[in-house]
Order: sequence, then C-alpha cells, then structure tokens
Amino acid sequence: MKILVINGPNLNMLGIREPAIYGDATYDDLVSKIVNHCTEKGIDVVCSQSNHEGELVDMIQQAYFDKFDGIVINPGAYTHTSVALLDALKSVNIPAVEVHISKVSDREAFRQISYVSYYCFETIMGKGFDGYIEAIDVLEKKIKEQGNS
Ligand code: DQA
Repeated sequence: MKILVINGPNLNMLGIREPAIYGDATYDDLVSKIVNHCTEKGIDVVCSQSNHEGELVDMIQQAYFDKFDGIVINPGAYTHTSVALLDALKSVNIPAVEVHISKVSDREAFRQISYVSYYCFETIMGKGFDGYIEAIDVLEKKIKEQGNS
C-alpha cells in the first residue's frame, strides 16, 4: 500500500509559527512520526510539502501516475480558498482524508469553509500531529475495504 501525505503552505514553519496553536514540534518531527508509524504498519509513505498552490495540484495529479492508493492532505490556508485542489482530487479519484492540526471549527469565520472536504471521505481536526496518524489508519481501512491493495 502506498500513501501520499501532502502538506500545504506554512506547514514547513511548524515549531516556529504560532506555537500556541500548532505546537512546538517541527515539520521534520511530523515527517518522522508519520514515517515511523507507516514503517510499523508496512505502508509505503511519501511526505511532501509546498507553499505553492500549483505545485500542490501537480503533486495530486502525480499521485495518479505513481499509483498511490491514498492521500492524506492538510492544504493549510488553501483549504479555505482552493477549488483547484478540490478539482485535482476529483480528477485523480484516489481516496483522501483531510487533516488539520488545529480545531478549525472553533476558529475564524473565514476558516469555516473547506473546499477539499467536498471530496475527502473524512476530516480530522484539532488532534495535533496525532490527526495524521488517525488519518493514515482510517485511509488504510478504507483502501483495504475497497480491495485496492
Ligand atoms: C491548518 C488550518 C488552516 O486554517 C491554516 O491556514 C493552516 C493550518 C491546520 O492544520 O490547522 O495553515 O490547516
């Protein structure tokens, strides 16, 4: 089973950006946590991050050609603005879970819309880095149920 974890803008700044909201741990810490979990479970994982919307679209499209079985995506601020990311997910038709480190539903009004949630079969928020682990587990279950891997 092959899973792609995509992180959007400013998530490379974890540990520096707004620690009261996102915590003290870094992006590298997040990647280690994900890789360790996937290694234990025998899942192939690739973690990628970009600050650029078009690059995130390219990553989603490439997941189709590289035959990924599932996608975990935290689109950062593009969650609330990007129809392009939604359309990319619909284009590749790969099962996807949306993750947010913070509890977006308790935050500003402008964060209350998520375009990717129109595609993702589950959204996990407010659980810090553990949310990514939960997302991987949920995705693994879904992929196995679909008999794709
Ligand atoms: C975020 C929430 C978004 O509203 C914000 O723009 C981010 C991070 C989260 O993980 O909580 O960059 O996706």
